Amino acid sequence: SELGIEDQAELLPYDRKWEFPITNLKLGKQLGAGAFGVVCKGQAKGIKPEEEITTVAVKMVKRNAEDSCMRALVSELKIMAHLGKHLNVLNLLGACTKNVTKKELLVIVEYCKYGNIHNYLYRNRKDFINQIDPVTGNLDWNIGIEKLERTLSIASSKSCSQMKYAEHFYLRKDSNRSLLTNNDKRNDNLSCTGAQTDTAEVNMSPKVEDDTGDDYVVTSSAGSSIHLEWRTNYKPDYKGSVGPICTEDLIIWAFQVARGMEYLTSRKVLHGDLAARNILLTYDNVVKICDFGLAKNIYHNDQYKMKSNCPLPIKWMAIEAIRDRVFSTQSDVWAFGIVLWELFSLARMPYPGMQADERLYARLVEGYRMESPEYATQEIYKVMLDCWSLNPLDRPSFTELHQKIGCMLEEGI
Ligand code: ADE
Repeated sequence: SELGIEDQAELLPYDRKWEFPITNLKLGKQLGAGAFGVVCKGQAKGIKPEEEITTVAVKMVKRNAEDSCMRALVSELKIMAHLGKHLNVLNLLGACTKNVTKKELLVIVEYCKYGNIHNYLYRNRKDFINQIDPVTGNLDWNIGIEKLERTLSIASSKSCSQMKYAEHFYLRKDSNRSLLTNNDKRNDNLSCTGAQTDTAEVNMSPKVEDDTGDDYVVTSSAGSSIHLEWRTNYKPDYKGSVGPICTEDLIIWAFQVARGMEYLTSRKVLHGDLAARNILLTYDNVVKICDFGLAKNIYHNDQYKMKSNCPLPIKWMAIEAIRDRVFSTQSDVWAFGIVLWELFSLARMPYPGMQADERLYARLVEGYRMESPEYATQEIYKVMLDCWSLNPLDRPSFTELHQKIGCMLEEGI
């Protein structure tokens, strides 16, 4: 590994625009450690134009790590730079690559306040609110409403917006700080409720889709400009407390993961290690897919054969991926099914009591699949089974998954 970052041309180019001066970065406590390296909290000066200091997460390899770890981090950096911005993908903010030949590489990404959803679910499972009606087996949305009210009462009298999904937008005060008023209702394309405060629910028609995660600016008939931010959730943070997790949150997270994966697919990237441990939770119930250490750009070839020295997440892998190490977007869909199982079991280890070995593989080939986890609806379990179809082509696409799970959320409106 005497090569500089530009020379490690096995993958994508690295654009110097990402280079961040290491002197403007202050490292803090360790947030996590994986097979490849360490992630620390950090403070970065001037990394975002809109604020002086930004709390960030910084990924680096361990000092005594093997060269393969360094290559994985270089690859991750290039994949993230290639991916671009999406609300449900952990975004790259910058990198310090000056001393990459001396095994010093810092990859600076967004900081996600609540860490990975596996640990978050595990820590908070005792307070979980099961919204499934024990008689009908269907979701009881009223339980969710009670729970939302509870969350809002924590948020005192502040009116918070309810964001359900794509057609709903989060409204913010316009730049001259005047508050939204119900006058905005006069705009045929924009209706809002609860607009007395700085947030409100809006309904846009026609539907506007946005994959960038950027804010919209819409001018209402009242003449004031309104910033619309894409949201996929409805549970606002208040003083860092988001209240107990409920079934609807699990569906909202699943929906966002499907959206993020749909975006990865559109950028011709396969993840290769999709699992609850690689999904981060941040403000406002937003989740972000992270850890692109095993990710591959599949622009020229829609499959990728993992090298034989690469340690693999067997329990998240599709049958064909275990058999011959061939990964594809369809094997990511299988892993998405396992993520659903992790979510709706509140972070249990998949295939409880079983080892990740040849016997597991043999049973999968025979047609064995995990039972429904305790907190899944029949509809959700059906989605898991579809993701675990033997034939990769029989599995749903991430677009279909995003739509199907979106419909489940719509039922609750
Ligand atoms: N752990 C690993 N990556 C993280 C991130 N970006 N934010 C918070 N915790 C993390």
